[in-house]
Amino acid sequence: MLNPKNHNIVFIGFMGVGKGTIARALIQKTKRMGLDTDDLIESMENRKIKMIFETEGEAYFRKLEKKTAKWLEKSVKNAIISTGGGFFKVANLEKIGTVVYLKSSFEGILKRLQEHENAELKLAKRPLLTDFTKAKALFNERAPLYEAKADVIIDVENRKIKEIVNDLATLLKTNKH
Ligand code: S3P
Repeated sequence: MLNPKNHNIVFIGFMGVGKGTIARALIQKTKRMGLDTDDLIESMENRKIKMIFETEGEAYFRKLEKKTAKWLEKSVKNAIISTGGGFFKVANLEKIGTVVYLKSSFEGILKRLQEHENAELKLAKRPLLTDFTKAKALFNERAPLYEAKADVIIDVENRKIKEIVNDLATLLKTNKH
């Protein structure tokens, strides 16, 4: 079921699954406006996520996510929103828009990241991905929670971005979202 509240699309899913890439491709295809919660937080703080984690700790970052979520609910409409991998825990997620979970196995995500031309950068900027054993445990803990929060689940493993985006655009059109 799509949740047309505010007519936003909110992508959730684990780090590195492709939320930003898919959101940008959908923005280009649909000509809607889009934003990313990590980018909003970085500009609010004028520093990188990695630096925020290092100097203030994770709890501080989570507060910034909550603040961002409240602003999105109140002020943003008709947008395509990509989020950080832990953003789905904000209390008002379903009030922001239709929640789309981009699903893949942990191995599929690692493969995608490692095959990327900027693989080192992609890994280095994510503080919670530095230890693969811990990241895998986090993935296992979160996987069912992402599903529970989703209005729509899209399996992205081994699929081309173009195909995924076409499916999403059709879904939006069919539902007059
Ligand atoms: C996090 C994911 C990151 C970023 C932060 C925390 C998480 O975003 O928000 O490092 O808790 O999963 P990406 O999912 O874009 O990597």
